[in-house]
Amino acid sequence: MEMGFIFYIVCYFLVFFFKASTAIDTISPSESLTDGMSLVSNDRSFALGFFSPHTSNNRYLGIWYHNDPMQTVVWVANRINPINDSTGALQIESSGRIVLQVQNKTAVWSTDTIASVENPVLQLLDSGNLVVKDGQDSNPENYLWQSFDYPSDTMLPGMKIGVDLRTGLDRRLSAWKNWDDPSPGDLTYGVDFRGAPELGIRKGLDKYFQTGLWIGHSFSGIRDGRSNSKKIFDYDFVWNKNEAYYIFFLKNKSVMTRVVLNQTESARKRYTWNPENQTWETFSMRPSDYCDRYGLCGPNGNCDYNKLPVCQCLTGFRPKWPQRWDSSEYSGGCIHSKPLNCQRGDGFITLRRVKSPAITNPWVHTSMNLKECKAQCLRNCSCTAYTNLDFTGGGGSGCAMWFGDLVDVKQFQSDSDGMVLHIRVSASETELKKKVKVKLAIILATVISASGGLLLVVCYICRSRKKLKAKSEDNNTNDKENGDLELATWRLWTEGNPSDIVEDFLVETGDLPELLRCIHISLLCVQQHPMERPGMSSVVLMLGSRSELPLPKQPGFLFYNIPIVAEASLANDGLHSRNEISLSTLEAR
Ligand SMILES: *[C@@H]1O[C@H](CO)[C@@H](O)[C@H](O)[C@H]1NC(C)=O
Ligand SMILES: *[C@@H]1O[C@H](CO)[C@@H](O)[C@H](O)[C@H]1NC(C)=O
Ligand SMILES: *[C@@H]1O[C@H](CO)[C@@H](O)[C@H](O)[C@H]1NC(C)=O
Ligand SMILES: *[C@@H]1O[C@H](CO)[C@@H](O)[C@H](O)[C@H]1NC(C)=O
Ligand SMILES: *[C@@H]1O[C@H](CO)[C@@H](O)[C@H](O)[C@H]1NC(C)=O
Ligand SMILES: *[C@@H]1O[C@H](CO)[C@@H](O)[C@H](O)[C@H]1NC(C)=O
Repeated sequence: MEMGFIFYIVCYFLVFFFKASTAIDTISPSESLTDGMSLVSNDRSFALGFFSPHTSNNRYLGIWYHNDPMQTVVWVANRINPINDSTGALQIESSGRIVLQVQNKTAVWSTDTIASVENPVLQLLDSGNLVVKDGQDSNPENYLWQSFDYPSDTMLPGMKIGVDLRTGLDRRLSAWKNWDDPSPGDLTYGVDFRGAPELGIRKGLDKYFQTGLWIGHSFSGIRDGRSNSKKIFDYDFVWNKNEAYYIFFLKNKSVMTRVVLNQTESARKRYTWNPENQTWETFSMRPSDYCDRYGLCGPNGNCDYNKLPVCQCLTGFRPKWPQRWDSSEYSGGCIHSKPLNCQRGDGFITLRRVKSPAITNPWVHTSMNLKECKAQCLRNCSCTAYTNLDFTGGGGSGCAMWFGDLVDVKQFQSDSDGMVLHIRVSASETELKKKVKVKLAIILATVISASGGLLLVVCYICRSRKKLKAKSEDNNTNDKENGDLELATWRLWTEGNPSDIVEDFLVETGDLPELLRCIHISLLCVQQHPMERPGMSSVVLMLGSRSELPLPKQPGFLFYNIPIVAEASLANDGLHSRNEISLSTLEAR
């Protein structure tokens, strides 16, 4: 009898504890959540309740990671209206309106009334999203209100950061003022939409960091966007007639990641969860280098972190105020070295591995191809640059054009970063380029006929290393041939048309120093003494780096009496690395 009673008591407490430990994730109109209570999402990932940040005594209603010992807060309801005592209570009214009250009368935060709702419930989801649903609604994902639409400083997986073009809803992160105060600082992160969407950070109204154009698989201004993150999360940028937003998803629920805007550090940081140490670790930070600062080099400048000074003028431009430019005052930016002459017909110079200029006044067309894009740009005298919109899979489609100054261009080093940009320059600028090209072609033809296949091999390596596709801008080129560069190169060689090799190379890289480096290495390979020739592995190393190269001596074949050499001002130094300088200089004039 007695034993039975004790058993009963034990059972009672077990049931009680079991109930208490089962997460309650929902409240309905008859209930309220008061200070000291919390809702916990079904899988116990997130909790909703009252908290005081750090050293503050104010009370806020917020959502935090439930399993994180630091209880990292991801959302705050009453950001600008702190509660000064513990009388806060959260309720959902039968109209579907959520109200946070103090002392049973003053509302410090609330949402709007929902027009038609039968039986509203407030629920904290496993995603960390606090939602109002109609209990009667058979579709559980039909949210009448959701906290994900009103983000604080944190972006969680599945959250959209961007604009709904139908309703005008603009979901932006805004940083906490400081460690103690969740009210919005002036640092915000979101999508600006002016003809085309652009994701970035603003300080007040000023642009502070921009990701550059979305080019189908990544942002043109973010280095190595995909490969790093691949294991942890997937991201996408969606742009259609209804919406433009950035979103990411976890690959594995137990490997958490979040994005936070931090006013103190003036940065957007991504953290990932380290389950062993139970801590958040910084995964990435924007801005990430000096060149990420918006418009650092002024109009038509190009920021290259690997150069000193980092600010350069775009090809075909010169500093507007040379003296100020030389003393690192870049705000004046650059102007065309040779004025454009639209009527006489301008040309374009191709830049590679660059972040797109800021989208202040762009024109985009998703189905136009590059040729049509170029023609359209050429027709409009105020068009200053054009490019494809989508570079997925190495190809290109769509058209983007810029009008006016090109701002916030950044130079990357790796082929997997940035995009291709065609900028308008005066015809005389492109003619000069062509001349240099022809000269090089002649030089090369001579070198090739003297040195046989070796140079060809090196150029082939140059080309394949850069994943060059012969004349990829002409869509009619045969892909098989592209894939079989060696064959194509060999054919050009046997058909006695080696200048095409150079031509293609220049078309593809648009990068004269790169080609000159290739020639330089080739010359090293044809040194008279085998001891002076680099081995194949060294050649590959040389091609892959920008290190200083040894000066080539006179090669093991005759290289006198090439008329073009004198013209290209190589005569004084003969075959030295000076070649590089004099040829580049020639091009820049
Ligand atoms: C606390 O806040 C209430 C209103 O929310 C206000 O009436 C009251 O004066 C405040 N008390 C203190 C001590 O600041
Ligand atoms: C709050 O108001 C309700 C209804 O007016 C009342 O029943 C309740 O006792 C009040 N609670 C407190 C703590 O004042
Ligand atoms: C998810 O991550 C956890 C912890 O690192 C690991 O144990 C688990 O195998 C992963 N699951 C999958 C499907 O990769
Ligand atoms: C912002 O950065 C400061 C300084 O590093 C740090 O103390 C603070 O916790 C950060 N805030 C957030 C919300 O991560
Ligand atoms: C955990 O932290 C310690 C000390 O900071 C560090 O040495 C260790 O590598 C961390 N563990 C993991 C798995 O990162
Ligand atoms: C050039 O393009 C701009 C911007 O789209 C447009 O406003 C202007 O009318 C165009 N000019 C001509 C001559 O087509």
